[in-house]
Amino acid sequence: MIALLACRQDPVPRDGPVPPEGESGLDTAAPGRPAFVAPAEAEDLDPAAGVVRVALTAAPHAYTVGGLAVDGWAYDAGVPGPTLRADVGDRLVVELTNALPDPTTIHWHGLSVPYAMDGVTWRADPVPPGGTFTYDFVLTRPGTFWYHPHFDADGQLDRGLYGMLIVEDPDEPATDREVLLVLDDWTESLGDDPHGLAPFPATWAVNGVVGPELVLRGGETVRVRILNASNTRYLDLRGMRWIGGDQGLLPAPVEPADVLLAPGDRAELEWLVGAEGFTLRTEAYTLDGGVALGEAQELLTVAVQDGAPAPPPIAWPVDPTPPASDPGATDITWVFSGEGDAWLIDGEKYPDVTIETLALGQEAVIEVRNLSATEHPFHLHGHAFEVLSAGGVAPGWRRVEDTVNVRIREAVRLKLVADNPGDWMAHCHVLPHAHDGMMTVLRVGP
Ligand code: C2O
Ligand code: CU
Repeated sequence: MIALLACRQDPVPRDGPVPPEGESGLDTAAPGRPAFVAPAEAEDLDPAAGVVRVALTAAPHAYTVGGLAVDGWAYDAGVPGPTLRADVGDRLVVELTNALPDPTTIHWHGLSVPYAMDGVTWRADPVPPGGTFTYDFVLTRPGTFWYHPHFDADGQLDRGLYGMLIVEDPDEPATDREVLLVLDDWTESLGDDPHGLAPFPATWAVNGVVGPELVLRGGETVRVRILNASNTRYLDLRGMRWIGGDQGLLPAPVEPADVLLAPGDRAELEWLVGAEGFTLRTEAYTLDGGVALGEAQELLTVAVQDGAPAPPPIAWPVDPTPPASDPGATDITWVFSGEGDAWLIDGEKYPDVTIETLALGQEAVIEVRNLSATEHPFHLHGHAFEVLSAGGVAPGWRRVEDTVNVRIREAVRLKLVADNPGDWMAHCHVLPHAHDGMMTVLRVGP
């Protein structure tokens, strides 16, 4: 159970953690709005080049979000947990200590890691309370990834266990600043049942702060990396300059773009800061024009210091590889259905599932069909995939993802190369749906 709940205070307190003094060289927020807080950065404990070694402790942690005292859980006493950062090609070693009262694991969402490092409990036990586990793998792709438990995932994420993992490519162009936005809907925690859908309107917290103000300098170029870490809510950002998705930079920037972030999705934006401040807001994303999942909300206000004209756009690399064409044949079809507290793939409820198998090295097409009355972000472990089409429409560019939203009555067709042996989870990233059965297994190799 989520143990929480103090009374809701008013107004929102401004007592969140404060960035180290002088770090940004800019003033903090104007009175009346809480200051923007960047997530902590994990320390690399290994001086060797090419190896990033990090120690993470998962432990109970009391914190405050939007005036509500949360008796939560955290990595290294921070919600979000510390950002892990390394270069593509580096070996990442993470020593996890489980100081929670429950078992836990870490899953590296969006990375293709060896199966034993994937943090799932289908064939292995979780890390027991008081136990440790060392995750150790090589980072093969640049991009904005994240980490979270894969044991009681909906309960453990909801309490605060998640953080960003950024894999940098030193060949990508630099910006003047990078801003990380880890977005979570803290009202999800208010339900009596951590596995249920919150009955409350969404209230988004940005790095654990509701409605913060970020101060930037006019004339700056900013690379913004966004993660939707919520269990159930969607973000709908309009008119963005969209440069990156789940799996790193897009083949070319898209502008103006409407960016949908389903639970588990990431996006990268470019901000060209001029003399005027602005607001980042989400619209009320609706289920195919039906019930809205939350209201339109201001997520973050940007104030500008030292007004200067906006800089020209960065010349992001352009990848001319055309989108894959659909071979027509389908290797695996997964049909999503369900309602209430029974969510099914092919009529089956995890863990009583039929295992689909692909040969190692096989190029395969997977079709995910949604027959239910709500949307589902489909996520596959161990592999990225290319979206061939959604609702019969092919994307206008090479769209490589690890999490893709499947709308009501829609079929999404995906292409992948099954190059990573293991029993990979395939599931809906609305975590209460996964908890209630919407998860299956893709076996790659014998
Ligand atoms: Cu982000 Cu199987 O999860
Ligand atoms: Cu779902």
